[in-house]
Parts: sequence; structure tokens; C-alpha cells
Amino acid sequence: MVTFEKVSKTYPGGVMAVKNLNLTIAQGELVVLIGPSGCGKTSSLKMVNRLIEPTSGRIIVSGVDTQKLDPVALRRKIGYVIQDIALFPHRNVAQNIATVPRLKKWDQKKIQERVDELLRLVDMDPALYRGRYPLELSGGQQQRIGVLRALAAEPEVLLMDEPFGALDPITREQLQDELKRLRQKVKKTILFVTHDMDEALKLADRIVLMRDGVIVQVDTPEGLLREPANDFVRNFIGEKRLIRQPDKVLVHEVMRTKPTCIEGDKGLHQGLELMREEAVDSLLIMDRSGDFLGVVEVQTIQQNLEARKSLEAIMTPWPTVNENDSVKRVVRLMVEGNLRFIPVVDETGRIKGIVTRANVVNFVLDYMS
Ligand SMILES: Nc1ncnc2c1ncn2[C@@H]1O[C@H](COP(=O)(O)OP(=O)(O)O)[C@@H](O)[C@H]1O
Ligand SMILES: [Mg+2]
Repeated sequence: MVTFEKVSKTYPGGVMAVKNLNLTIAQGELVVLIGPSGCGKTSSLKMVNRLIEPTSGRIIVSGVDTQKLDPVALRRKIGYVIQDIALFPHRNVAQNIATVPRLKKWDQKKIQERVDELLRLVDMDPALYRGRYPLELSGGQQQRIGVLRALAAEPEVLLMDEPFGALDPITREQLQDELKRLRQKVKKTILFVTHDMDEALKLADRIVLMRDGVIVQVDTPEGLLREPANDFVRNFIGEKRLIRQPDKVLVHEVMRTKPTCIEGDKGLHQGLELMREEAVDSLLIMDRSGDFLGVVEVQTIQQNLEARKSLEAIMTPWPTVNENDSVKRVVRLMVEGNLRFIPVVDETGRIKGIVTRANVVNFVLDYMS
């Protein structure tokens, strides 16, 4: 467990990087610190293992005030992974992973077992990789070894500062997935810094959004997406990711304007001709002033083609919605009536647009992408 109590950091020269930070990371929890560059994420992280010292306030790790501990001893209890992992180039994989266990004077056999166990944890065959040197590894593999090195001596807490930031997108996703799997096997308390919202949403139990050294919002990924505290949060998350209740999405956001309409006193052949021109299989029928009357589908025209009727005479009544109705209502009407589309009309009944099943599906897909 890690607790920040009224922690502030002012650098020499006067930059207030962190202002009165209060935050508790529970045992086994993964908390992501996120926010724009310079908002104080790295400074907050580095105060936990005392790479920098708070100007005021306290940080408690596993019940102990970090100020009461020797910084070197403290760092051996805390794993630390940064973007450019900087493995020791002249030490092989096993030696790199064993760094802290050796400092802690574990015996050789225990160290070897631990190295192999860790390599297997990330599906790297120990026989194959144990003796390799960092330059003989891909960027993704080096970063994996960096994570294993941080985990080697069973730290109580893991600090990760944009650990996957320098990797290509595919490798980054692989390591994120691995970290998720790893967490199921080894329940660590993790404080993870990123500026990538997708990464935060994917990994975090809770997300802490910072701005100018202060916390703007702390919530679960779900909570953040559902109820962003203000416009800054909303912008930072991005409109597209926000979860919107289906009953809050309105018809005018999904509807198509200029549906194919025709006056009801026109004949069936005229209707068919318009369908051909516009490549549609149904028409919205309106009166002279543009008010909606009903729908005529292509099959109905074909069945009645011999009779000299007007479109109005063969049209089917059809439910409509207003621009400010919810999309949920549209979906319900579609399902109830097994309808492929719903016309949109204004208060006076005039045709404004149409919502098709495709419009609804595309809108949902847009929000999921
Ligand atoms: N050693 C330093 N000396 C002076 N100012 C610093 C130092 N390190 C960081 N800062 C400043 O503190 C603020 C927070 O930086 P940092 O914690 O690195 O932010 P982040 O990790 O969110 O990008 C920035 O304005 C940065 O310029
Ligand atoms: Mg940083």
C-alpha cells in the first residue's frame, strides 16, 4: 500500500511540480497517473522511492513513512521501470534480472531459480535467453527483462514510468497484455505513469488524472468514461471514448437528411422511376406542404402496378420520431415494428430526415472504435 499525504514538490527555481497530493493506492491495486506533459506525474512517482524528496508532506509505503527509511534500502523494496530501461549492456539476461537479489545476497541457487521462474512468466525459454546479452534482444524483449528485473526481489511496490512508451504499437500492446496476465499471477501494488489514455483505460484499476500538479479526477476507467468531472477531463479522454447512455444520444446526431420523398398524389410509375434514380427501395410520401403521410415500398408498387392508383392510395402508415427524441426510442420502434428505418419529422409533421438501421449501427461502431 502506498499513501501520499499532502505531498508537494517545488523544484529549486520555484516550479511547483506537485501540489498537495493526497492519494492512497491499495494493496494489489494498479493505479495509473495520467495527464499532459509536465503535470507532475514523474515527480510524484520519483518521490515514492526518494529519487527526489518531497518539499512537504509524507509518503507511506506498507505502513512505513519513507522518510524514516534509508533511501537505498527503500529502493530495494520498490521495483522501478522506466521508458529507456537501460539494461546493463555487459551483463547477460540472468545477471540483469538478478541485480537486486544479488545486492540482497540471496544464495546462487535461489537466484537461478528465480531468474528461470520469471523468464517463464513472460514465455521466454530460460535455456534460450538466460545467457543472452541485451544487444541480442529486441526492444520488446529488453523491456520485458527490465520489468522482470524490477520484479526479481519480490518488491512490495512497482513504479512504472511510461514503461512501454518507446515501443512500437504492436509490441506495446503485447507488453500491456502481458502485464495484465502477470498481475493475475503476482498481485503487486503498481503505480503506473502514462500519457496514453488507451493504455490507462486498459490497465488501470483506478485512473488519477492530473493537471498542473493537482489531481483533477480519480475514478475507475468506467467511472471516468461515464462521468467526466469537467471539460478538461472530457477533452483529455476524447469525445469518442466517452460512454453515452443510449437514451442520451439524440436522433439528430445519427439521422440522415434529405431522404427520398415524393408527393402522395403522384402515380406509381413516377414513384418507381424516382426509386430507380435514387437507388432506394422505399419512399417517404408527403403532402403538398412537405408533411409526412406514410411509406411506400417497392414490392407494394409492383403488386399494384396494373391499377391506376396514386402513391397515397397504397401507402402504409409508419411511426415517426422528432430530432430530439432518443436513439433508444428509434431502436425500440424498429424492433417492435420490424422496420428498417424511421422517418424524422418536426413538430408540425414536416419531414426532416430519416434514421436507418445502418445509421444506428455505424454510430455505435464509431463509439466503439
Ligand atoms: N529537476 C527538475 N528541476 C526543475 N524543474 C523540474 C525538474 N523536473 C521536473 N521539473 C518540472 O516540474 C514539472 C513537472 O514535471 P514532471 O513531473 O516531469 O511531469 P510529467 O512527468 O507529468 O511530464 C514540469 O514543469 C517540469 O518542467
Ligand atoms: Mg514524465
